[in-house]
Amino acid sequence: MKHGFLLAFCLPLTLFPSLVLFSLAGVASAASDPSPLIANTAGRTTISLNGAWPAIVDPFDNGLTMGIFRNETAKSKSDRIEYDFDKSPVLNVPGDWNSQRESLLFYEGTVWYRRLFGYHKRPNTRVFVYFGAANYRATVYLNGQKLGEHEGGFTPFNFEATDALREGYNFLVVAVNNTRRADAVPALKFDWWNYGGITRDVLLVEVPTAFIQDYVVQLARGSREEIDGWVQLNGALAAQKVTVEIPEAGVRESATSDAAGRAAFHFAAKLDLWSPEHPKLYDVVVTSGEDTVHDQIGFRSLEVQGAKILLNGKPIFLRGVSMHEQAPFRDGRAFSTEDAQALLGWVKELGCNFVRLAHYPHNENEIRLADRMGLLVWSEIPVYWDLDWQNPATLATAEAQLRDMIARDHNRAAVIVWSISNETPVKPERLKFLKQLAQDARGFDATRLITSASNRVESVGPGVTALNDPLGEALDVLGLNEYVGWYVGRPEDADKMEWRLKWDKPLIVSEFGGDAQFGRHGDADERWTEEYQASLFRHQLGMVRRMPNLAGLTPWVLMDFRSPARMLPGVQDYHNRKGLLSDRGQRKQAFYVLQEFYKELAAEEK
Ligand code: GCU
Repeated sequence: MKHGFLLAFCLPLTLFPSLVLFSLAGVASAASDPSPLIANTAGRTTISLNGAWPAIVDPFDNGLTMGIFRNETAKSKSDRIEYDFDKSPVLNVPGDWNSQRESLLFYEGTVWYRRLFGYHKRPNTRVFVYFGAANYRATVYLNGQKLGEHEGGFTPFNFEATDALREGYNFLVVAVNNTRRADAVPALKFDWWNYGGITRDVLLVEVPTAFIQDYVVQLARGSREEIDGWVQLNGALAAQKVTVEIPEAGVRESATSDAAGRAAFHFAAKLDLWSPEHPKLYDVVVTSGEDTVHDQIGFRSLEVQGAKILLNGKPIFLRGVSMHEQAPFRDGRAFSTEDAQALLGWVKELGCNFVRLAHYPHNENEIRLADRMGLLVWSEIPVYWDLDWQNPATLATAEAQLRDMIARDHNRAAVIVWSISNETPVKPERLKFLKQLAQDARGFDATRLITSASNRVESVGPGVTALNDPLGEALDVLGLNEYVGWYVGRPEDADKMEWRLKWDKPLIVSEFGGDAQFGRHGDADERWTEEYQASLFRHQLGMVRRMPNLAGLTPWVLMDFRSPARMLPGVQDYHNRKGLLSDRGQRKQAFYVLQEFYKELAAEEK
């Protein structure tokens, strides 16, 4: 990350009365969707706006009519201004608000944030305000001018700020609302905490007038020698030269952009392939005009052959675990590299080569770390349980989240599957909705596999259960969530169960598990004890070995996580306790059961 030029801000507020004179009507009409996502902010000139931001909690949503985005203060004793950022308590950014203040733990509503910063404008430079994520709906104002709105709690977005930005003093105001709605994605019910706020980094991104918006430099699907890619320019005239270099591999390829600013290329390259055992990343340099972007990219081939998933041409078994973006050792949503190191460190310690990041796109720190650590990734959008399937706005929101999840991570070798949904009810309008998403995903990225986690099973004979979700037809890989021994029957029932698949495709058992409170002990049939959970895992691991087309596992779940649906006092206390680790990083017995199983599997593969 290259650092831009930041003016030290020390001028007293009273010097700028003219800043607050904006009419409401003018502001409303300027509303716009975010501008196309700028790829790889880590390889750009950026200024971090992270820190402690004054924040105003607005439970009845009065802020807009009060004009809070104008950041006014009383100028005279007769002035009536009923808010004051300067006197308001702060919230850390990045960070959810729920874990920062006891009074906000259950809060669902609007919070207004303000960030003051000085800026020195430069010629031939455009500036974007970039958010790693804000849950759920964010409205962004700069110097009282509305830059736009974004919906979706787990994907990045940016707005062009070049015109609204001033020399010297600037104020950024962001209204964030995490109220659940039936037409949103996710909708009203989900089994994780509805952490609200500006949950990931906020940056000013400086780029030349004509710049490299986005690019893909990846091996063509199923190929180990052919690179297939493109570069999308922004603000460039037609026929602009674009160059892609991989110095270590002696690659230097050029192409010319078309009228839409896109340059496509296809060329052969001799590369050291990325794999979990050998997570080789190359410095890749993309240049066009004044703009140069550096990235670290791994190259690996990926395909499905019958019931097998092939990585670099060889079948691979995905030894995985599911994980929420819950912060380790403290409450709140994880966001930092340190959080990622702790969480993915445990994933590695389990003996995994794969991790399912549930149920929404996790922060980029985790994905970049998985790339470096050699952990394969399942990434998912929060199309979770029941949605307003026939509502075109809901579909558009889901498609936007899918587009941005893929746009942010489409150069990450670690990411091998895009999941379009989790445990959704079988009905025609749902199937239509999800088939559209599967098609969209293939349009956004033809190189990765499409999956979905389904719990739609049916008994098809004594002791025989079939995964026969019609959605399977549209997928490359099937995902099965089954809770034999927890929600269904007893752990030992798994010993006698047989499974059938409607579709002859690779199968990942994307969830199984049971709750156990760390340190609670008893007989193996006593719920909530470590012994019950460990026994359930033993029976499950015996059963999955007999499953057809089994290509991977991601048991539920790496670490206990907060959930409003888990209310058993003294045991759950608003935590889902199906973790193999407690939220304080304490390993439960089942952690070692799975670790042992993966050690055996890895030895068998040798
Ligand atoms: C579901 C769901 C998870 C949930 C888990 C559980 O399968 O996908 O989000 O947390 O079961 O009930 O613990």
